[in-house]
Amino acid sequence: MKIKGVILAGGKGTRLLPITKVTNKHLLAIYNKPMIYYPLGVLTSSGIKDILIVTGPEHAGHFLNLLGSGKEFGVRISYEVQEEAGGIAQALSLAEDFADEKKIAVILGDNIFEKSLSNAIRKFQNENIGAKIFLKEVEEANRFGVAEIKNGKLVGIEEKPKAPKSRLAVTGMYMYDKTVFEKIKKLKPSHRGELEITDVNNMYLKSGDLSYEIINGKWTDAGTFSSMLKASILVANMNNVDLS
Ligand code: G1P
Repeated sequence: MKIKGVILAGGKGTRLLPITKVTNKHLLAIYNKPMIYYPLGVLTSSGIKDILIVTGPEHAGHFLNLLGSGKEFGVRISYEVQEEAGGIAQALSLAEDFADEKKIAVILGDNIFEKSLSNAIRKFQNENIGAKIFLKEVEEANRFGVAEIKNGKLVGIEEKPKAPKSRLAVTGMYMYDKTVFEKIKKLKPSHRGELEITDVNNMYLKSGDLSYEIINGKWTDAGTFSSMLKASILVANMNNVDLS
């Protein structure tokens, strides 16, 4: 497998206070496993062998305690510390040396996917396209990056729009070629003071280099109390657990 994997697991988890007061959001339980196991599973089950975890300095040691070298998962895990929470794209910029000019599959540490993304990840290795995003129809699109599609063509992405142009949320799974790091260097902080991944995706879109796929399986993030509960129920259902 030529593609390397990156899990972004930083941030302050402020929407989950007080349970994130003494630990990192991605170490909290989703049903019977730490949250980060699920995005890790998306990457390992696709055959990715080299994985970088980017997290904040406060609890970085706990990720190492939990996941170690990655041997238990049959992969090699490296770690990078994001000193300040400067947004997803800023966290991703720390993966430049690790990526070593190879293509990367990037996943947010709080994203739970029901179905495998293995085919898409494998295909991207040999595809002649700069980047790919994965979309899913949701109820509250205004909580996410939202894709606008006209006649089957992706025409724009807006980050947490007040009036979403569609119900298609941009999930936290992205695939990029090596130019992603040059693009991040050109970014300006958004109104919330962060380097936005949506701006990176729009750069690819402008140069005609962004493809998309609407996923079949269920998907949720787990960054709020209600979505965290939803994620646990999704995983329990995937494991055929009787919750009645
Ligand atoms: C981030 C992205 C957003 C995306 C979402 C998926 O939002 O900025 O575009 O739709 O992840 O989970 P955040 O979780 O930082 O609010």
